[in-house]
Amino acid sequence: MQALSGEWRREGLRIAFVPTMGSLHEGHRRLLEEGRRRGDRLVLSVFVNPTQFGPGEDFERYPRDLARDGAIAEGAGTDVLFAPAAEEVYPSGRPLTRVTVAGLTDRLCGKSRPGHFDGVTTVVAKLFNIVKPHVALFGEKDYQQLVAVRRMARDLDFDLEVTGVETVREPDGLAMSSRNVYLAPEDREAALSLSRGVARAREAAAAGERSAEKIIEIVREVIAAHPQNAIDYVELVNPETLEGVTVLRAEARLMLAVRVRGTRLIDNAALRPA
Ligand code: PAJ
Repeated sequence: MQALSGEWRREGLRIAFVPTMGSLHEGHRRLLEEGRRRGDRLVLSVFVNPTQFGPGEDFERYPRDLARDGAIAEGAGTDVLFAPAAEEVYPSGRPLTRVTVAGLTDRLCGKSRPGHFDGVTTVVAKLFNIVKPHVALFGEKDYQQLVAVRRMARDLDFDLEVTGVETVREPDGLAMSSRNVYLAPEDREAALSLSRGVARAREAAAAGERSAEKIIEIVREVIAAHPQNAIDYVELVNPETLEGVTVLRAEARLMLAVRVRGTRLIDNAALRPA
C-alpha cells in the first residue's frame, strides 16, 4: 500500500481515503462517493481495530463480511480495498507509541470508553502514514472522532485534509451504523428516540429556546420514555472544543449516547439559535 501510494504521489495523483471497520452500509458508501469526487485514486481500508475496543466490548462479535464489502467498494468506484491483518498492523503486539488527543477525548464517549479514542487516533495516524492520502473522509455520525482526528492531523502536521460528511440515516431517522444489526426488532422504537430527541431539540431551538439545560431536558424526556433505554449522556457542546455550553448563542453540537438494552447508540446534530 505504501509503495503504491508513493507511486501515485510521484505521478501527481490525488489520493482520497476512507478508513472503516467494514460491514459497509449506506453511510460508508456516501463517504466513498465523496472520496471518489475528491480524488484521482480512492482507497478504502477495512480493519476491525482491536485497540479501540475495551474489555467486554464487541470486538469478537463485530460484524465482518469482506466479500460483501468488496462488492460495495467496487460499486462505489474504489481503486484499492486495503484490508490488512492485525499482525500486519501490529507486528509486535500493541504499539508502544500512542497518539492521544488530550482534552477532546476525555469527555463524552471517552468517559465510558476509556482508551477508545487513543486506539482510534493511533490507528488512524498509522493508516495515514500507510495510505498517504491528500484527503481523508470521516462521518459526522462519530462527531467526537471527527473532531479528534482533525485536531490530531493539525497538531502533528499531517499534510492532508480531513473532511466531514453528514450523517446518513434510515428512512425512519435512525443513524446508520454497523452496530444496528444488534438491535432486536422490538427495540427499534426505543432506538428511534435518539433521532426523535434530536429533532425535538432542533424544533425547540428554532422556536427560540436557548437554555442548554432546557434543551437537554427535552431530549432526555423523549429517550427516557422507553424503559429499555439507559442514557449515557446528553450534552450541548462547542462544535470545536467539545466543551459544554450553557446558552445557545452560536452554533453548538447536541451530542448523545444511549444504551438500548445491550446496544450502545450515538447521535448528534448541529443546533443554531433562532
Ligand atoms: P466505522 O464505524 O466503520 O466508520 C467508518 C467511517 O464511516 C467513520 O468516519 C464513520 O463516522 C462513518 N460513518 C459511520 N456511520 C455513518 C453514517 N450513518 N453516516 C455517515 N458516516 C458514517 O469509525 C470507525 O469505523 C473507526 O473508528 C475508524 C475511523 C475506521 C478507525 O478504526
